[in-house]
Amino acid sequence: MPPVGVLTFFLLFVTASQAQEKSVEIQPRCGASFTEAYKPIQIQVNEDSDCTWDFVRPNNETTRIVFSVLNLNPVADCSQENITVFDENLDVLGVLCPDSPRIAVFETTGSASVRVSTNSESFQRNAYVLYYSFPIGSEPANCGGDLRGFSGTIASPNYPGRHPHFAYCIWHLEVPKNTKIDLTFTEIFLEIDPACRFDFIALYDGPSTSSPLLDVLCGRTVAEVETTSNSLTLLLSTDYANSYYGFSANYVALPKSNTSALSCSGEEMTVIIDPSYITSLGYDVNDLALSNASCVAASSNPVVFNVPFSACGTVKKVDDHIVSYTNIITASPGGGVITRRKQLQIIVTCELDNESAAEIMYVTENDIIQDQQETGKYDVSLSFYESQDFNSPVLDSPYFVELNNTLFLQATLKTNDPELTVFTDTCFASSKPDFTSPNYDLIRNGCLKDDTFHNFPSGSGFSRFSFSAFKFLQAQPSVYLQCRVVICDANDSGSRCNQGCITRKRRDLGSNIRKAHAVVGPIRLKRQSGAEPLGSVSEKNEDGSKAEQSTFYLFGILVLVANVLIVAFVVLKYSRKQPSTHGYLPVPTS
Ligand SMILES: *[C@@H]1O[C@H](CO)[C@@H](O)[C@H](O)[C@H]1NC(C)=O
Ligand SMILES: *[C@@H]1O[C@H](CO)[C@@H](O)[C@H](O)[C@H]1NC(C)=O
Repeated sequence: MPPVGVLTFFLLFVTASQAQEKSVEIQPRCGASFTEAYKPIQIQVNEDSDCTWDFVRPNNETTRIVFSVLNLNPVADCSQENITVFDENLDVLGVLCPDSPRIAVFETTGSASVRVSTNSESFQRNAYVLYYSFPIGSEPANCGGDLRGFSGTIASPNYPGRHPHFAYCIWHLEVPKNTKIDLTFTEIFLEIDPACRFDFIALYDGPSTSSPLLDVLCGRTVAEVETTSNSLTLLLSTDYANSYYGFSANYVALPKSNTSALSCSGEEMTVIIDPSYITSLGYDVNDLALSNASCVAASSNPVVFNVPFSACGTVKKVDDHIVSYTNIITASPGGGVITRRKQLQIIVTCELDNESAAEIMYVTENDIIQDQQETGKYDVSLSFYESQDFNSPVLDSPYFVELNNTLFLQATLKTNDPELTVFTDTCFASSKPDFTSPNYDLIRNGCLKDDTFHNFPSGSGFSRFSFSAFKFLQAQPSVYLQCRVVICDANDSGSRCNQGCITRKRRDLGSNIRKAHAVVGPIRLKRQSGAEPLGSVSEKNEDGSKAEQSTFYLFGILVLVANVLIVAFVVLKYSRKQPSTHGYLPVPTS
């Protein structure tokens, strides 16, 4: 005896196969008048037709007219060839043109009529239309709905039982702007018809059934669709016979064009991250947190962070009357990690003024942080180069290096002003992206602290230097490098850029300094074969602690992710007129 499920399927299949034979009266004649409560009509007309079908219904009923196939002469002009739907007063309910979507639904009270006009080109037109009526206010099936969550499930009425006849269900799905909808059907089991004339699902990329038609589905299948907009409309339409399980589908909101999306209201920020992106980096959703590590994701599929403006470590800044709020989502590995993973930081900034809200978001995968708010004036980028001739920038990201590699870097100022010079004032390494762990200095206040650090001659708008990778790499599995670059006027002989090493106790760059940020990286170690020694030098960190080579071995394949953050302190030419009490900061009065 076959399992019940197989038997059921067999019976359904047989029924469905029989349903393909569903007899639909083709209407070769031009027009007719029907008085039935429902009737499917397969319209076939040729050129120069002007035919009207009347559906005569009592005026205490709602009449619904569903077109599921529409093939007019595709090159015809709508003014010469169309299908016009009228109500019982001959007011136009709607017009279907040659370029109209194949699915169209009209509703009226009482009788209706459909008039098909064709132009003189020889061509066989066809359309499939079903009309049915029901007492006003008593829909044959209660179904459909509005969904606003970041994820959810929808299913046909009675699912997994048989769907009702004459179901006309519309679901509206809406997710935050900057996100799209990914809808996955786990099952579709509707009447089988190659043209999906009878029972069908229509999907629209937008908030209504007048949005662009994405797809029409029927039969026994599964499917996945993705919107381009942040809303989706799903229509289920069924007729008078052959009902099966209907459908079931799940949806999630996904970032529209990136791996994460930010939307910003006057009260909070919402960040949505593609969970597969987090997985691809080797992280779990539980590894993600806001600046205040106790603030974690509100949901895991999709990954959603609700970022309050006044909690969770959100930093508020007021600049030129514009208020901005910034928080950082970081991924930190949980316990028991045995493979290194890319560092991940998503910096979200919501900028608010009286008038509007704008979003700025930066995703750093150890490569890019661009703080556009602060780089409006000067933009400094930092790039690795293959060699000391500085001809070939390293385009690969991450940048894999050997332990004993010398790394060549150039800080470049993007400016139209040729009279600006760039000076590397301070660079230091840390194992933490926020530089809270002990730092290891390469150069500080222009004074060399690491004997592998080498400055190359500067030119207009750039500064070049090199250092050996391996000192940090063997000490820490993950290293960030932050550099501070000073930008000076080339004509100013007394500027900071010309002073080299300054050993005074505390620098205070004063108010005539503007900050800029740029980041390059990551750099990582190439895979080491076996347990080859990584170098004989035992390094000390700045705080004097012994380097932990074992940490490196533990992680086997290595991975040092260095992220180089350049903080450029830009000495604004216009502001240098302000007096300063600090001798090393030149204050030309010219
Ligand atoms: C609708 O009107 C018809 C006559 O046109 C009548 O027979 C029927 O009972 C009415 N139905 C309702 C629900 O009022
Ligand atoms: C539809 O076609 C008819 C017949 O050609 C024409 O009179 C009418 O204006 C057309 N309707 C539209 C909206 O173009």
